[in-house]
Amino acid sequence: MTPLVSSNTPAPLGLLAELTHRCPLQCPYCSNPVDLIRRSQELDTQTWCRVFSEAADLGVLQMHLSGGEPTARKDLEELVRHASGVGIYTNLITAGVNVSGERLEVLAAAGLDHVQLSMQGADPVTTDKISGMAGAHLRKRNFAGEVHRLGLPLTLNAVIHRANIHQIADFIDLALELGAKRIEIAHAQYYAWALKNRAALMPRREQVLEAQRVVEEARAQLKGRLVIDSVVPDYYARYPKPCMNGWGRQSLNVTPSGQVLPCHAAETIPGLEFWNVQDHGLSDIWYHSPAFNAFRGTDWMPELCRSCERREIDWGGCRCQALAIAGDASATDPACHKSPLHQQLLDMAEADSEAEESYVYRRYRNPAPVES
Ligand code: SF4
Ligand code: FES
Repeated sequence: MTPLVSSNTPAPLGLLAELTHRCPLQCPYCSNPVDLIRRSQELDTQTWCRVFSEAADLGVLQMHLSGGEPTARKDLEELVRHASGVGIYTNLITAGVNVSGERLEVLAAAGLDHVQLSMQGADPVTTDKISGMAGAHLRKRNFAGEVHRLGLPLTLNAVIHRANIHQIADFIDLALELGAKRIEIAHAQYYAWALKNRAALMPRREQVLEAQRVVEEARAQLKGRLVIDSVVPDYYARYPKPCMNGWGRQSLNVTPSGQVLPCHAAETIPGLEFWNVQDHGLSDIWYHSPAFNAFRGTDWMPELCRSCERREIDWGGCRCQALAIAGDASATDPACHKSPLHQQLLDMAEADSEAEESYVYRRYRNPAPVES
């Protein structure tokens, strides 16, 4: 087949394997699609293992086993063993509420390299409220204890929004207490399900500035003890984030039913053609599929970005955010201060941050929106 892209397209480094959309939590900031994939549509064990082998051949070094809740898959141990066997570093991204110490031990023996634990709040009241699960905080703490006991490296993942942005210092203390070596302070992204909750989640500008101050102070104090990853939410910044480090440059996402996406929310973009691992090899998908080539490189960019000195720094920002705000996935990301829609984005963020909205919880078993 003739490549649609120049031969210098780099091989991907990472693969996000969304093993299932099943999840015991109900977080309102969920970035999974509004229409979830049912269990009966999930790829089987053999197909996932083939995908992992193809990923290793393609050059993938790291695999994030995610969902939904990946431990809902009974074959997770087999999947970890296979990925590890083909030489890929495996990271389990979990809510940690339904995993026993015994199961974690089996996963570690199968070759699991790293655990990333989501925390919705720094205290039980906040975690239980945001996750929609009574007792979730305690379960997560117990799970982190098991990770520590087994000597697995632990990263805490805190998704930040208006209801917990004042807890950043507490999240950092919690990470230290639980023995984590890294914490990701990840501000909520507003697409897919989370878009429904933007007005209930959006922090105020002064909260974001204070959060950044706390992060900078902690970084200086904890150098060498805890790595703190944090990026200013781009609607309050001058430039957009380099989403995915550029479309089709470093990583790919495989959905529970085998669609391969350039980013988590790519299916929100109308008109893109995604290929499935059940019909195509992973290498063919990476180099030749229409979706991966739609926004690869700089040729697709509008003039504003194409002539900008930052075009290969932020890669024009986020296509899904451009779609959500500008209604056009190939527009300059309105998070960029040069975009004609930037002021509109700021006005929207400020209006949302003052709104008094209740959460629309994400429910796997009852996917219809339910107000809090
Ligand atoms: Fe980035 Fe485009 Fe803005 Fe330049 S104009 S900073 S490339 S988003
Ligand atoms: Fe799709 Fe940013 S989430 S490009």
